[in-house]
Formats: sequence, structure tokens, C-alpha cells
Amino acid sequence: MQTVSQRMFALVLTLCLAASHATAQKPSKPVDAEGHQWWQHAVFQEIYPRSYMDSNNDGIGDLNGIASKMEYLKWLGVDVIWIAPCFPSPQVDFGYDVSDYENIDPMYGTLADFDHMEKIGKQNGVGIVFDFVVNHTSDKHKWFVESSSSKTNPYADWYIWKDGKGANQPPNNWLSTFGGSAWQFVGTRGQYYYHFFYPQQPDLNWRNPKVAAAMYGSTVFWYKRGVVGFRLDAVDTLFEDPNLTDNPTLPGKNEFGDQNQERKYNDKLPEVHDVMKGLRNAANPYNAVLIGETWTSDVSELKDYYGKNHDELQMPMDLMFTELKPLSANVFRKHVGAVDASGEWPVWVMSNHDIKRAYSRFADGKHDDDIAKVMAGMYLTLRGSAILYYGEEIGMANNDPTRKEDVRDPIGQLGWPEQIGRDGERTPMQWNDTPNAGFTKGIPWLPVPATYQTHNVAAEKADPNSILNFYKNLLAMRHTNPALLDGDYVALNESDSNVYSYLRRYKNQAVLVVLNMSEAPQTASFDLSAQGFSAKQAKTLLTTTKAGATQALSGISLPPYTVYIGEVAK
Ligand code: GLC
Ligand code: CA
Repeated sequence: MQTVSQRMFALVLTLCLAASHATAQKPSKPVDAEGHQWWQHAVFQEIYPRSYMDSNNDGIGDLNGIASKMEYLKWLGVDVIWIAPCFPSPQVDFGYDVSDYENIDPMYGTLADFDHMEKIGKQNGVGIVFDFVVNHTSDKHKWFVESSSSKTNPYADWYIWKDGKGANQPPNNWLSTFGGSAWQFVGTRGQYYYHFFYPQQPDLNWRNPKVAAAMYGSTVFWYKRGVVGFRLDAVDTLFEDPNLTDNPTLPGKNEFGDQNQERKYNDKLPEVHDVMKGLRNAANPYNAVLIGETWTSDVSELKDYYGKNHDELQMPMDLMFTELKPLSANVFRKHVGAVDASGEWPVWVMSNHDIKRAYSRFADGKHDDDIAKVMAGMYLTLRGSAILYYGEEIGMANNDPTRKEDVRDPIGQLGWPEQIGRDGERTPMQWNDTPNAGFTKGIPWLPVPATYQTHNVAAEKADPNSILNFYKNLLAMRHTNPALLDGDYVALNESDSNVYSYLRRYKNQAVLVVLNMSEAPQTASFDLSAQGFSAKQAKTLLTTTKAGATQALSGISLPPYTVYIGEVAK
């Protein structure tokens, strides 16, 4: 139960926030005739700050390192970088355990370094999106330190506290997704607290309006300092059933040896949407964008995250896309078709700091670089926004640990060998062929894979056929071609199980994308009259085939794993 003074406090804070919004209100002007917003034309890239560029040679990347690469990002065609958390943190979960939401961890720099990076970014047309850990704080956050000290302190109900069922018996059977019970006993309170992730990441009590007000306030702190949006971490698990009902058990054990269960009472509760709306209200006056880490199980769940009145997330990530396999025209056509048909603005992601790199997921050992270009040729030409993962543009591969003693990610230590952790997709960016790929002159926090000698920025810049130049050309095209910016999506030749093809149509123009997703040569033919285009040939825009400047639509020859992108007229 909230006291009257708690309610008053929340009300006053809400009013203050509303007032500061009113003064900071910026009109959100569309950037094109279709009414699209700035973020719909922007290309995003996730940067894992520990691994991007180390400016002081302590083996860990930092904000000055990122600032030093803004020209590269501009050259590549990236408009916005989402930086994984760089707030003060004990680094148990490498920054996803935040101990202060309104500062920078000394290992990454200072607030002044942030301001410098933001300024250099602006000069290069690169905006900063920060990563907001909404579900939990670090156990070293002053709120939690206070909260765990007694049952009566001012922060007593900022987290989820509950008595055990009996001696050494947690309140219910809920499991941490990072292994073991989701409950941790604290002697000073004589109670358990709930943690969906590591025990060092206690879940905030979002039913407490003071928590909401403080968290919304922290986003505003950063908007005022220049961030253009947030990626919202782990939003699915913000709320728990207030009765703490046991989850139903399922057959089998998970990778940590725990009995499987359905997360019926601690995942995707409807109240999550109230918080999405609250965060959006805080973002709107700054014309800021909200990207969501939304692990949905189907398209309708994904659609819900935009909000019934488009008042929640502008960019909930389609993470189902990262789970598609194998590489096949039918698999991708079916999924993309369903997401596109939802009518929302799709957000395509292939990899991130939690997911094995796409390069390694799809590699066949023979056509690895060609396959990387096919994937880029697809997700950078679909309707919607794309979020690249750092290093994807040079074909960085996973560098997984082979021995338990080398693992840095705690879930890898706990779940070895079934769960090897996420170190493999978090290794240092490969800038050149000097030691440690030019990332640091010190000892890098994670080892650089041997592939850095061929797959690095300097070498690939010099090679017109590199993955890097393919990305660069694709992104340049995506920024200027009206059909790629604004066109609709129409799947073509839908019964072809080897070649995935589609049209992006805008007024009198269309872009034809043809992707051979098979290891055999294929020929694709198109009659586009049903789609309103009588053209018999295309003007080649970008290809990894041998096509010339124009290409007859009656038979496009596609060697294994190739891309053809051409323009067709009415
Ligand atoms: C998100 C992050 C992941 C982190 C977890 C807990 O899933 O992407 O890296 O471990 O949240 O904060
Ligand atoms: Ca450093």
C-alpha cells in the first residue's frame, strides 16, 4: 500500500516532469512526404563499448575510443550508435548492472568525455542512443544498499522483497534466466529479494511510482545532455504477479540443470505497456527514439510493443529474426512477409552482444563472405530500420572460448559446457592487421580471433570486393534511393525455394532485390506486370554477380550465394 505522502511525491514528480517537457517541447517534423520520422531514415549500429576502441591502452574500450572512430562511422553510413551501458557498474554483467544511472563509469571515461563524444558525433552526423537497464539495478546501487538495510527505510519497497515459505525456502519456484532460484536471502532484512538475472541484479519494483518517477527522470537527464534515444533493456520482465504464484513446470532441465518452467507469472505481464507509455511520454518532448529489447514469440506480441495508439516503442526489435534458420529463401520469405504484413515499422537485427554473430551462424566454411553479403543484401533493403552489430560490416566471426577457465561471462562459467557464455560475440573490433587488430596496445580484455588478419577495416577498405565496401555501398544506396527509403515490400516468385526476391515500390520507381540463398547456381526470371512495372530490364545498382550495367529480367544468372539489386522503371 502506498501512503498519502508517497502518492503526493509521485504526483509532484509527474507534474515537474510534465512541466519540464512542456518547455523542452520540440516539434517532430517528418523527413519525407510519407510522414516518416528522422529515425525511420537512419541506419543504426550497436557498439559494445568495452570492445570498440581503447584510447588509453588498459585493454578496455572507452568513450574517447568511440569518439576517435566517428569519422569511420560517418564514412560507413551509420547515423546513430546505440552504446551498450557505460554507466558506473561493478561489471558483473559487463555494465548491465548499473550502480548510478546518471554518470559514466571511470573505465569508460567521464561525463566530460561523454560531452566530447557527443559533440564529435554531431559533427559527423552520428547520434548517440544509450542503453537503459529498466528491469533491475546493481546490488551496489545506493537504492538497493538502502533497501536491503531494513524493512522501514525510504527505499524499502523499491525492489521485490518477500518472506520465505519457511526456513531456507524461497517465496516461490521462479528461476533466474541466468541459473538457479530467482530469490536471494538477505539476513539484515530477514527476507528474499527477486532477481530475474544475476543475484547482483535485483529487480526494481515498478509498481512503486517513486521508482517510475526516478527512472523516467534519468532518461530526461540524458536527453538534456544530448542522447537521441534509448535502447531499453529486458523490458519483457518488468512486472511480476503480485501474488507470486508458482510457475507451471515443464519437462526436462535447462542448460544450468534447473527443471524447466513456463514463465507464466513473471514475463510479459500487461503492466509492461504502462511503463513503455511512461518512457515514451518522457521521450516525446525530445523527439527521441525508443528501441526495445523485445523477445517476442510471435508477430502479434511484437505489434503490441508499438502500442495500440503508437504510444509505446517506435522501434521494438524483431529478435525472432535472429532465430531464423537455416539460411533458406522459404524461411526468410515467410518470416519477413508476416512481419511486414503487420503494417508496423519493422526493426531488423541479425546479431547483438547476446547472440552468436550472424557471420558464424550462417557460415558454411566455403562461401562465408558471400553469405555475409547475401544477409546484408537482404536486411539492409527490407522495409523498416536496420540495426547493425559492430564488426558485422567486416565479417567478424565469433571467437568462442574453448576452455572454461578462459570464460569471462558468468553464465558461461555457471553453465559450461552447455552454456559457453557470450564472450565469443563480444571480442575487440578489428581495425587493422597490427597486434590486437589495432584495438589496444595493452592486453585486450577478450582475445582477438586470428581472422583479424584478413577481416579488418584497413584491409577491407582497400578491397573493392570486401564485405565492408559492400555494406558501405548498400548503406549509401539506402540513404538516397526513394524506393528503399519509402517503398512498400512485395515478395516475388514465392514458390522459388532457392532464390528470395522482392520488390520495393515507390511511385514510378522500384528496386528489385534478388538473393540466391543456395549453394548451387540459379537463374531467376521476373515478369513484373502484375506489380505495375512493365520493364523488361533492370538498371544494376549493386551486385555480387557478373551482371553488367543493365540486366534482362528474363534470366538473371546467380552463382551460389549472390546478390543482385537493380532498379526498374514503370
Ligand atoms: C539484456 C542484455 C544482456 C544482459 C541482460 C540483463 O538481455 O542484452 O546482455 O545480460 O539484459 O541485463
Ligand atoms: Ca580504455
